[in-house]
Amino acid sequence: MPPTTLGREHPPWWRSAVIYEIYVRSFGDSNGDGVGDLAGVRSHLDYLAELGVDAIWLTPFYPSPLADGGYDVVDYRAVDPVFGDLGEAERLITEAAARGIRTIVDVVPNHVSAQHPWFREALVAGPGSSARQKFWFREGKGDHNELTPNDWTSEFGGSAWTRTTDTDGAPGEWYLHLFTPDQPDLNWNHPEVVAEHLAVLRFWFDRGAVGVRIDSAALLVKDPRLPDVAASPPGERPFVDRNELHEVYRSWRTVADSYAPTAGGPRLLIGEVWLEDPKRFAAYLRPDELHTAFNFDLMIRPFDAKELRESIQTTLAVHEPVGAPATWVLSNHDVTRPVTRYGRRESNFSFPAKRFDTPTDLALGTARARAAALLVAALPGALYVFQGDELGLPEAELPRDAIVDPMHARSGGVDPGRDGCRVPMPWAAAGPSLGFSGAADIAPWLPQPQAFAALAVELQAGEPSSMLTLYRRAPCSCDAPCLRWPTIHWSGSSSAKACSPSPGAGRHRVRTP
Ligand code: GLC
Repeated sequence: MPPTTLGREHPPWWRSAVIYEIYVRSFGDSNGDGVGDLAGVRSHLDYLAELGVDAIWLTPFYPSPLADGGYDVVDYRAVDPVFGDLGEAERLITEAAARGIRTIVDVVPNHVSAQHPWFREALVAGPGSSARQKFWFREGKGDHNELTPNDWTSEFGGSAWTRTTDTDGAPGEWYLHLFTPDQPDLNWNHPEVVAEHLAVLRFWFDRGAVGVRIDSAALLVKDPRLPDVAASPPGERPFVDRNELHEVYRSWRTVADSYAPTAGGPRLLIGEVWLEDPKRFAAYLRPDELHTAFNFDLMIRPFDAKELRESIQTTLAVHEPVGAPATWVLSNHDVTRPVTRYGRRESNFSFPAKRFDTPTDLALGTARARAAALLVAALPGALYVFQGDELGLPEAELPRDAIVDPMHARSGGVDPGRDGCRVPMPWAAAGPSLGFSGAADIAPWLPQPQAFAALAVELQAGEPSSMLTLYRRAPCSCDAPCLRWPTIHWSGSSSAKACSPSPGAGRHRVRTP
């Protein structure tokens, strides 16, 4: 059942929302198997309500071999048994809505798991088959097709092509994967690929999800000639930010808007759009496309007043002409935690620069992270908080043999990967999993550093100077717990709305971006 009144506020809730990202594997483990699950999220809803978030974004919980933490999906209409089942997903959405918390789910349209029925069928069907048309299968170059079809590299390092083996054991065609070989890219020129994703949107919107976070949103469409990057115009990559993408998102917007006004309000489209050119970025936010997209610019800047000011000004300036609210993102499940990042000489986030044993001053990083948290909470627009940042968790330095993120292995072990920010939450100061798996005597799927014990929720909750208290109280002075600043009015507005603690009824003072 969709929530009934969660989508009809004016201005719409998402323009000034606080959205909390939940990495489902690492939030709460309800059944004591060491892995977080949907019931575990449900068991902590009161914590989220007290934090004052407007919505939760759940990372993928669909059936998956977890070759890339669930961003390798086998079936979008089901829940992996590790995380629960469909009934549990619906219960979570409903119980969150009862507390005024909306639910956003992740969709991953650029690729599927290599175990997805479409890809398995394509492998069996062989070259020239219609099943292979849904992906990018190609002959290789060279006398024996032994060379990759082009020079594209995977976002995780290495080639973006893997060669198949034919049923008779001979080397066959190559297929494209912008991420791991376990994540074959879909061909968005294929009508079934297009139709399937519209149906998946409806599937989750019909179950009460108020929106979707769109994974790798600027990568879906490829230049069908598959030219070498080296042969493309300077700065242009034939698989990034293709103009045809806008058509895709216009059709998604039509689906999202079709839920207004009778089915609980229009649904929200949030793009993961990594683009250097702010104008190209803003083009996705035109009124008939995505509602918002993650603004990563702040995250890749060093902790420097001039840099941060420049980032904020540019961000506001590029959003203004398209009428979309800015978003503010200090971290997520792919990047180094702020407390650690801001404690380093290079305090800006950069994927290629990640290394083991980087000298870090955590006291400095924590002080800066507190300042940054207040800064972004004071800015007009929507704010994203990644689980654990409200506890000031540092990036965990994991033993190499504990790391499962494919980025680590594909870098030849040079890049520590992204697991350091994905370590299970410390709820309690003691116990084998610091309360993550309740009382179960089991180690969590990633080891928690000892330092996490002192940062546990139960210790920080009653501590006036803790990071958690900062996130819970500051900067709003109203009675309802929230993250919004009460006195700043943007765009000349002097009419901040009063906070109301009632579920779904505009819990925070709202500023017009
Ligand atoms: C996005 C996700 C990341 C994932 C990648 C491939 O960037 O945030 O975790 O590995 O897409 O799906």
